[in-house]
Amino acid sequence: MTKSEEGKVLYLIICAAGPAGGANELVDLAQQAGWAVQVIATPAALDFIDTEALEEQTGRPVRSQYRKPGEPRSPKANAIIVAPATFNTINKWAAGISDTYALGVLAEALGLNIPVVVLPFVNTILANRTPYRNSVRSLIAEGAVILQEDSDNSPHWPGSGGSVVFPWGQVLLHL
Ligand SMILES: Cc1cc2nc3c(=O)[nH]c(=O)nc-3n(C[C@H](O)[C@H](O)[C@H](O)COP(=O)(O)O)c2cc1C
Repeated sequence: MTKSEEGKVLYLIICAAGPAGGANELVDLAQQAGWAVQVIATPAALDFIDTEALEEQTGRPVRSQYRKPGEPRSPKANAIIVAPATFNTINKWAAGISDTYALGVLAEALGLNIPVVVLPFVNTILANRTPYRNSVRSLIAEGAVILQEDSDNSPHWPGSGGSVVFPWGQVLLHL
């Protein structure tokens, strides 16, 4: 067992939204708090992150696909953070769709009673859509912690995402 697998394990699920490129900030804060971090990116998020840098920082491969038979399993998660969480992934997760590895992990997490904290990055127009509001309500009812409307930073106006400071630091406080 490597040093990073000895302690409590945090899965950081990264979706394809603007702040994804800053995920190293959360990895840093989580490591300072004693977590070993396993990054899981949606396939679309791979265009937004520096995979190599995150692998170096965490000491673990970034996972975006189901493993092939015979490949080693990731260590089991003690907690999961989804940040930034997209409109797409939140709606699919709530609907029980599991067509990415990230969604597969999320599909099982609440049933396994693993704490899941979600920090969406969804613009005002999409955040006010009925399907999204229903998804958020239903995931909260199933036990997810979803940070959003009460935050200063999300939802944001369409097109203004680049100028928003994403509150990476807040999310760890809710684990
Ligand atoms: C530059 C760019 C910025 C985007 N920003 C957001 C965003 O802030 N929030 C969001 O929900 N989707 C955003 N999208 C759309 C998502 O990337 C798209 O819905 C994608 O299919 C999400 O995939 P995922 O949920 O599997 O990560 C953005 C797309 C691009 C190209």
